[in-house]
Amino acid sequence: MNSALKWVVKTALDDRLEKERGVQYEVLGIREGWKGLTYGESANPEFREHITPLNQDIVRTWDRYGGTFLGTSRLSPYDPKNDQSKVVIDNIEQLGLEAVIAIGGDGTLAIACRLAQEGVNVIGIPKTIDKDLSETDYTLGFETALNVITEEVDRLRTTAGSHRRIFVVETMGRSAGWLALEGGESCGAFIILIPEHDFSIEKVNELVVEGRRAGARYEIIVVAEGAKPVGYSEFVKEEGVDSFGHKALGGIAEFLAKEIRNSTKLESRSVVLSHLQRGGAPCAYDRRMGRYFGIAAVDLVVKKDFGKMVCYKNGKITSCPLEEIMGKLNLVNIETQYDTERYNGRRTIINM
Ligand code: F6P
Repeated sequence: MNSALKWVVKTALDDRLEKERGVQYEVLGIREGWKGLTYGESANPEFREHITPLNQDIVRTWDRYGGTFLGTSRLSPYDPKNDQSKVVIDNIEQLGLEAVIAIGGDGTLAIACRLAQEGVNVIGIPKTIDKDLSETDYTLGFETALNVITEEVDRLRTTAGSHRRIFVVETMGRSAGWLALEGGESCGAFIILIPEHDFSIEKVNELVVEGRRAGARYEIIVVAEGAKPVGYSEFVKEEGVDSFGHKALGGIAEFLAKEIRNSTKLESRSVVLSHLQRGGAPCAYDRRMGRYFGIAAVDLVVKKDFGKMVCYKNGKITSCPLEEIMGKLNLVNIETQYDTERYNGRRTIINM
């Protein structure tokens, strides 16, 4: 996110913009996401604390750091239990914002879309390690998270190999299996389990036993938090949903490690990567994509082409109406991207 913020600021404040396109902007950072726009009127000190002018000096080094220096929150102004959307719209007017650039996943962008429908000039930038937003082949943070998954599994191999253990590694990914699938492919996992395909516990056990018979010393199984065995519901860490309507998932790795242990008598342990995979310095790809998405967002503002999300599609940075991404997710295609026999990545690429 920080890289996108930096490049929004640098592009919007670039002198060339005035010379070449006849526009000039100021950039205000809004702290803690939508929450930062929910504090009553401008006289309220909390309101002022959440609005911060940004310039090129402030953001100069931001792209080297993960997360967001502006902070974030999981607050939806359209939460039916506490609808604050009118306050948000009033504040946008009071601040005289010509446009709001919202960076986030399905929750954040659903709010952006509703605000756009109410007449606010909004541009979205896709950011989620889940890579589950539709109409874009990339969402910021994904590659960095894959790097963490790969590095952590490399570390686990030390113990797995020495002790001949099975490690079940739980990644994030509520509905989409991209982190587990592509993380599992990158680290060479023996089995990959994703939310898009319910798995059979017996089949997992058989694969593990076959692997051992074939001479494997240990097995790495990568499972997405949203994956589940046939006949089960998702494993939920805490009851209830957040303001965006998301459940807190977790526990499938522990459950599966126990099942494998009980059935195969092989030593199996679980590791939950949790927020570790969402942290650290962004990889080169995320820094570059944050840059391109940030620049493209300002291009859309200059063109007054509002209500759009910046996307990356077929190798090109482009845009699509925010409305088009609503209500659908980018999921793994089981037919072409997953091997339901081996519970792993595909083994045919060209001949499909
Ligand atoms: O960013 C989406 C996500 O990574 C999901 O995969 C996961 O369920 C969720 O975030 C967990 O987020 P938190 O625990 O920070 O609310």
